[in-house]
Amino acid sequence: MAATALARRGAGIAAALVRRGRGMCSASATAPAAALSSEELIRMERDCSAHKYVAFLRASLVSSLLPPYHPIPMVFSQGEGAHIVDPEGNKYIDFLSAYSAVNQGHCHPKVLRALIEQAQRLTLSSRAFYNDKFPIFAEYLTSMFGYEMMLPMNTGAEGVETAIKLARKWGYEKKKIPKNEALLVSCCGCFHGRTLGVISMSCDNDATRGFGPLVPGHLKVDFGDIDGLRKIFREHGDQICGFLFEPIQGEAGVVIPPDGYLKAVRDLCSKHNVLMIADEIQTGIARTGKMLACDWEGVRPDMVILGKALGAGVVPVSAVLADKEVMLCIRPGEHGSTFGGNPLASAVAVASLKIVRDEGLVESPEELAEASKALSDVLEHDLPQMQKQVKKSKSEAEKPVCDRCGRDLYV
Ligand SMILES: Cc1ncc(COP(=O)(O)O)c(C=O)c1O
Repeated sequence: MAATALARRGAGIAAALVRRGRGMCSASATAPAAALSSEELIRMERDCSAHKYVAFLRASLVSSLLPPYHPIPMVFSQGEGAHIVDPEGNKYIDFLSAYSAVNQGHCHPKVLRALIEQAQRLTLSSRAFYNDKFPIFAEYLTSMFGYEMMLPMNTGAEGVETAIKLARKWGYEKKKIPKNEALLVSCCGCFHGRTLGVISMSCDNDATRGFGPLVPGHLKVDFGDIDGLRKIFREHGDQICGFLFEPIQGEAGVVIPPDGYLKAVRDLCSKHNVLMIADEIQTGIARTGKMLACDWEGVRPDMVILGKALGAGVVPVSAVLADKEVMLCIRPGEHGSTFGGNPLASAVAVASLKIVRDEGLVESPEELAEASKALSDVLEHDLPQMQKQVKKSKSEAEKPVCDRCGRDLYV
């Protein structure tokens, strides 16, 4: 089991440099992808599609080696477990795992089986009706994570939007915050997605510039700064409905908070009657060696947002978990999504979660040790070069400042 499960755990990027090339937008739409080289495919995508969001990687070590705003020049054409193959047949270990969306490994056979079986029966009912797969997903997810209820969405950003709306609604209904005065606290350097409501919390100037006006009602605090959070809660606590945070910041460069931070956040949120909202879209579902990163400090948030690996990289599935006290503040007709809880996504999500449980993807220290060793071998080889690049990009003179809160950016 160890080898298979390890092989299924992804992580990293090996950048392949491609060789041949010809001009592309004119290529036949019916040409099989395998007939095109990596370089041809990259050129075709650059010519015909909007820029991807690889600025997302900017803060990480790997990204410092990349030209900004373009994907790593490497084409995935097949995936199995932790491995991917490019059109030229080169094989790589995928250490990035689609930012944690394929924690179960690429194209896991059990997920594919669930997908195909369900696709042949029923794919969508809309939420105007019941379907026979969503209740099973809802029951499985809530019991696995120990919450009374869940609300299904599709992308991670939609899950975050849902959590923000829920927090505001709870703030007005339960905490009795005066109408339209609710505030949400989030962390500098956070990444929660790309919708307008979500970028309104962002400290990434590229994500916000040119998209204003942003949605008001947000306060910022440094990630890991419990004194800062205490001060904000003391000064604005009556108006604050929630504290939204990533237990480990992903985009900011995999920033792990100081020991005891999660517990201290829990205590402060309880003291000030503020919802503790953990965005575990990237850190959840076995990514850090526990089901949730919050489990490392034995902390139970009031709301947990999951996405990415919930669909095992096959379909987008996200969900917000909360107890009835919070969840039932949203009533029928107040929020939803045509595709949220669809039978196809529900079947895939149950299969994805079962893999995590059945293949013991959490709490298997030997495998983690083996994986860390593999990673440190890679870093030992590449790190010195990467560090030189990071130093160059971090010179004091060029240190950028966040448009939103005026603080130093985390790049
Ligand atoms: C912590 C976190 N929250 C939210 C999101 C947004 O998820 P999606 O891209 O599915 O909208 C991401 C995506 O990378 C993320 O890492």
